[in-house]
Amino acid sequence: MKVLVIGGGAREHALCRSLSLDPDVTALHCAPGNAGIAEVAELHGVNPLDGAAVAELAAGLRADLVVVGPEAPLVAGVADAVRDRGIPVFGPSAEAARLEGSKAFAKDVMAAAAVPTARSYVCTTAAEIDAALDAFGAPYVVKDDGLAAGKGVVVTEDIEVARAHALACVSPPRAAAAGTADTGGQAVIEEFLDGPEVSLFAVTDGETVVPLQPAQDFKRAYDGDAGPNTGGMGAYSPLPWADPKLVDEVMATVLQPTVDELRRRGTPFSGLLYAGLAITSRGVRVIEFNARFGDPETQVVLARLTTPLAGLLHAAATGTLAALPPLRWSDGAAVTVVIASHNYPDTPRTGDPIEGLADVAEQDAPEAYVLHAGTKRDASSGAVVSAGGRVLSVTATGADLTAARRRAYRAVDRISLDGSQHRTDIAAKVADEPAEQTAGEAAPRA
Ligand code: AMP
Ligand code: GLY
Repeated sequence: MKVLVIGGGAREHALCRSLSLDPDVTALHCAPGNAGIAEVAELHGVNPLDGAAVAELAAGLRADLVVVGPEAPLVAGVADAVRDRGIPVFGPSAEAARLEGSKAFAKDVMAAAAVPTARSYVCTTAAEIDAALDAFGAPYVVKDDGLAAGKGVVVTEDIEVARAHALACVSPPRAAAAGTADTGGQAVIEEFLDGPEVSLFAVTDGETVVPLQPAQDFKRAYDGDAGPNTGGMGAYSPLPWADPKLVDEVMATVLQPTVDELRRRGTPFSGLLYAGLAITSRGVRVIEFNARFGDPETQVVLARLTTPLAGLLHAAATGTLAALPPLRWSDGAAVTVVIASHNYPDTPRTGDPIEGLADVAEQDAPEAYVLHAGTKRDASSGAVVSAGGRVLSVTATGADLTAARRRAYRAVDRISLDGSQHRTDIAAKVADEPAEQTAGEAAPRA
């Protein structure tokens, strides 16, 4: 099977790594990729948001499967463009990707399918904003209706901060994202959900839904869940504290009803349905849906999946998931720690050289390995340099979370990137030892 992966983050590196280990994959291509993906796939300098160009590339490569990683190409209709050429594609249509692209649309689908989620108001005026903030009280949760790379959400005790963010969301309305009717200009204000968060992914062909194993993400920038929301600073799987019936419950109350509702509307969702969940004292509630694999949760979920990945994604892309045998998983655990550049998530600095990658490959593989996100090869020196906010996902497996965590941080400590930061408490609470005994220096570090 010839596979083309679209995207260039650590999630796509994790996808490419798993695909490269699948014996059915005879050729692996990626656009645009990064310096790490270049080691397992052939890179193509095609704009991932340009559906016509991606479809042309896939046709030229005679790809049997295209896997679209990030949300922006999905919302822009890249999967539709590839599907229109008759090429199997893993990723939903632009219509179905609105589940992630518009929080207001997601709320509407959840209401229709009776999926448990936070009560919310969609606001477009200052008066509506004030009424909604008053109705829920502190802590306030204010979300930009449209795509914001995990950074459009403000959770705060301060009503003025909440109000300012909501006003920024409603004015001025943005241009519609390509291929969608969403113009932004809306703030979603909702009830605060208390309780641990779980990310549960499901692979679906629009009808059959196959859940993966749950993971936990660390969204805040700094240790102790302090600082601003980010795309995600680390993750682990499995979740030893979760109810063993959680996956079955979420399948029955969230995943299958949502997939059924989108099919009923004539916009079936095929690809990866990501449920971000809060386990509250009143039961499981959906915090958000995403229309693609989560980053960095994918790094730990795929580290534990032993079923070959290409067959699974191809079955989803071709509507044949019902015939697939049950997924197989390793008994062990996986932990990933994100190394981010100086000043992430505000104005990340790029162009800094990254050292120690070869040391990890020599001394920690195969249990620990580095997945690249914002990296590239410097044109003149050939050195690997930082090229984005989240730079690396240092991932490790082990017999249990304690072993995986220890290995991940040992590898993190071998890497140097000037001014970089990482959290030292990823999976600390679930491992058998406190953060400071296993972690490197506290973030940020110079
Ligand atoms: P989202 O982009 O919707 O996943 O939100 C990002 C993060 O904000 C979530 O992972 C939560 O940590 C937090 N968050 C979002 N909605 C709520 C809510 N209703 N109650 C509490 N925290 C929330
Ligand atoms: N890790 C959160 C996300 O992928 O949206």
